[in-house]
Amino acid sequence: MEERVYKETVELYRQYVMPTYAPKTMFVRGAGARLWSADDRCFLDFASGISVCNLGHCHPGVTAAIQEQAAKLVHVSNLYMNDVTPRLAATLISRCFDGVVFFSNSGAESNEGMIKFARKYGSATGRSEIISMVNSFHGRTLATLAATGRAKYRKGFAPDMPGFVQVPFNDFEALKAAVTDKTCAIMLEPVQGEGGILPANPEYLRQVRALCDERDILLLFDEVQCGMGRTGTLFAWQNFGVEPDALSMAKAIANGFPMGAFIVKRKYATVLTVGMHASTFGGTPLACAAALAVQDAISKEHVLENCREQGAYLMQRLREMTAAYPFVREVRGLGMMIGVVLDREAGPLSQLLLEHGLITLTAGETVLRLLPPLTLTRAEADEGLSLIAAGLAEFAGKIKEE
Ligand SMILES: Cc1ncc(COP(=O)(O)O)c(C=O)c1O
Repeated sequence: MEERVYKETVELYRQYVMPTYAPKTMFVRGAGARLWSADDRCFLDFASGISVCNLGHCHPGVTAAIQEQAAKLVHVSNLYMNDVTPRLAATLISRCFDGVVFFSNSGAESNEGMIKFARKYGSATGRSEIISMVNSFHGRTLATLAATGRAKYRKGFAPDMPGFVQVPFNDFEALKAAVTDKTCAIMLEPVQGEGGILPANPEYLRQVRALCDERDILLLFDEVQCGMGRTGTLFAWQNFGVEPDALSMAKAIANGFPMGAFIVKRKYATVLTVGMHASTFGGTPLACAAALAVQDAISKEHVLENCREQGAYLMQRLREMTAAYPFVREVRGLGMMIGVVLDREAGPLSQLLLEHGLITLTAGETVLRLLPPLTLTRAEADEGLSLIAAGLAEFAGKIKEE
C-alpha cells in the first residue's frame, strides 16, 4: 500500500472509528495461515482472527460459496423460506445431537438467545437464575456481560442485569452449593477462552451433568470460541462425552462471515415458538451458504484430524522448548486452542512475536494464546515454533536486563 494511502487510512480510523479498540497493524490481504500487512510484510497467523478463520484466510471453497450465493439470493427475511438455511440446520444437527437451531449473527447474540431460552424454560416453574463461572467470557451485551465472570467488563455499565451468579470453574462443590430453587440453568465454556485457555475437568463436567439431570436444570455450553473444530472435535463437548441441553456457537461457523447459532435438544424444541425470539439477519441464505461450505471443508479436508495432530505436536514442542524458561509456568489447552501460561503479563511477549512475524493473542493477563488455523501444515507449525523459540529467547534476555 502506498505510504500516502496508509497514512490517510490511519487518520480515518483516528477520526471516525469509535476508539473501543487500539489496532496498530494494518492487514490488506490473507491466504491460508498468512497475512500481509500494508507495508507488504508477510506474517504467520497463530490467531485466526480470534478463532474465526479456522480454515485459514480466504478458504477457496468458502469464497466460492459466498460469491455464488451473493449472485443468487442474499436475504429474504425469516418470514419466508429459502433453500439454504434448513440445509445448514440439518447438517449442524447431524453432527451434534438431535435438536433444533436458532441462527443469529454473533457470539453474544447466540448466548443472549440461549439465556432467553433458559429463562423461558424456567418460567414454567418460577425459576430464572443462571449460574456461570468465574473467569468466563460470554459477550458484551447486557445479559452476556452479567453472565461473564470477570467484573472488569461490567465496570461503568451498572446496573447489572439481575439473575446471574458466578462460581469458581472446575469446582463442583462450589457449584452445588450455589444451586437454589430459583436456578434454571448452568452456563459454562467447556474450554475457557478469554479467561486463559482452561479446559474443564472431564469428571467435573460429568458431575455437573448429573446435577442438572437431578434438579431439572438446563446445562448450557458456550462454544463460541472452543467450538467448530478448535479443540479437535467439531463441538468441544464431544471431547468430554458430556452433552449439554443447549449450546451456542459463532466465530468460525462461517470462517469469517458474521454468523452465530444456538442449538437446543429436541425435547426443548418448542420452548421458544412463533414470535418469542427473532433476528433480522439471523441465518440469511448468504451466511448459511458460507457456513455450509465450512462444514463441507471440515468433512472433506481432514480438518479435525489435522487439528488433533498439529495441536498435539505444537503442545509437545512448546512444552519442550519452554522447560528452560522459569517464567513459563505451563503449556495447556486442547487441540489447537493452546495457552502458554507465564508468571507475568503476556502482552509484551505477544508484541515481540509480532515483530518477529508471528501473530498471537493473549488471554487473561498472563497467558499467551495460540489459535492457529486448523489447516496449519507441519512446515507452518515448525515455522511458528522457531519464531516462538526466537521470541522466547529475546524475551528471556529482556527479563535478565530488568
Ligand atoms: C466464549 C465466548 N463467548 C462469547 C463471545 C462473544 O462473541 P461475539 O464477540 O461474537 O459477540 C466470545 C468472544 O470472544 C467468546 O470467546
